[in-house]
Amino acid sequence: MAMVLVTPASAGTTLGASAAEKGRYFGTAVAANKLSDSAYTTILNREFTMVTAENEMKIDATEPQQGQFRYSQADPIVNHARTHGMQVRGHTLAWHGQQPGWMQGMEGTALRTAMLNHVTQVVTHYRGQIYSWDVVNEAFADGNSGGRRDSNLQRTGNDWIEAAFRAARAADPGAKLCYNDYNTDNWTWAKTQGVYNMVRDFKARGVPIDCVGFQSHFNNDSPYVSNYRTTLSSFAALGVDVQITELDIQGAPANTYRSVVEDCLAVARCNGITVWGIRDSDSWRASQTPLLFNSNGSKKPAYDAVLAALNNGTTPPTTPPPTTTPPPTDPPPTTPPPGTGACTATVTVNQWTGGFVANVRVTAGSSALNGWTVTIALPSGATVTNAWSADRSGNTGTTNWTNVAYNGQVGAGQSTEFGFQANGTAGSLSPTCAAR
Ligand code: XIL
Repeated sequence: MAMVLVTPASAGTTLGASAAEKGRYFGTAVAANKLSDSAYTTILNREFTMVTAENEMKIDATEPQQGQFRYSQADPIVNHARTHGMQVRGHTLAWHGQQPGWMQGMEGTALRTAMLNHVTQVVTHYRGQIYSWDVVNEAFADGNSGGRRDSNLQRTGNDWIEAAFRAARAADPGAKLCYNDYNTDNWTWAKTQGVYNMVRDFKARGVPIDCVGFQSHFNNDSPYVSNYRTTLSSFAALGVDVQITELDIQGAPANTYRSVVEDCLAVARCNGITVWGIRDSDSWRASQTPLLFNSNGSKKPAYDAVLAALNNGTTPPTTPPPTTTPPPTDPPPTTPPPGTGACTATVTVNQWTGGFVANVRVTAGSSALNGWTVTIALPSGATVTNAWSADRSGNTGTTNWTNVAYNGQVGAGQSTEFGFQANGTAGSLSPTCAAR
């Protein structure tokens, strides 16, 4: 008798593989001093596709004395990630916390200059190796003000956040740049709205922000709430990616972990989830047992719930679902729609040894665009590793780039931009553009 095994088409057996099937990463915070613990690295290497240095990229670690940069704590984490095919979230460049002593005592112009130098130096050191940077961490106040937190950085002027983002973009145009905070999960909280308004303002004024990180340290004082999905989707609608960056949940209830995963999968621009440690014994809040693995390394019920949610989830929509009836307010065109205006594409390349970033500008002709496709032939040896503000097909050879939801409509003579990062050498690129 033949036995028939029915395996669901999508059923990864690790967090990273299952998240990847949904176009997401699954990450964890990593402490450098645990990389010698084989029980720890066994789980790390098996389950995770993204790592964040728990403390080793913070300001006190990377610039312990002013002007003396030290990467000896963070580099082992980055190297471990690279040799095991994992990506890296950079955490964090400008923060009131974990400042070295020399910075804690600084104010005003001297501090602003030192902060921008720190951003530039550290981002340059890791250029091409970071998926996304938490450029600024925890700049908003708790409570009902919805305003900024007081700090020496804030006292240098309200524009310190955008200045940090501009410096980071200049140093590594290929990294996504995130604002990261906690207590911003509940859509009704003033702090959430304060950050939302800042991001909206940044997008309106062209400040280079690509993503918002939600730490999502859930506990009895800051519990998971069902409007979390609304929070994620509302930020995403501003034209930024969203990432769950430091997830832990007091007591690790399986249902709550499942809901968080389902919420991320429900938002196309939710790139992935990072838990803040592997085993409960690795947690900064170990007494809350908030993680997915017991201290002995065994999987907790929350692990099973997360894996199941990743496997049952839907893939992010790449095209809007077809409507069954035409929208009533949309009259049929009396003439076939004319070919939309042609477009041109130009490219600016920032090349370094072994890699480059290409920023592509799409400009509409004499008619507005309702969607565009750019074709770029890459020379052999060039492979796209990361891209923003366009969907792509192909990583090598002939690559095709189409608009995403928010940048398809370009007025006559107007422009929009997308970009990508690649390994190899760009040579001279000749993009062509067509209307869709
Ligand atoms: C925590 C680390 O987990 C601890 O080891 C360290 O003692 C303090 O910082 N928000 C953040 C993280 O952005 O950097 C913090 O990490 C947790 C809260």
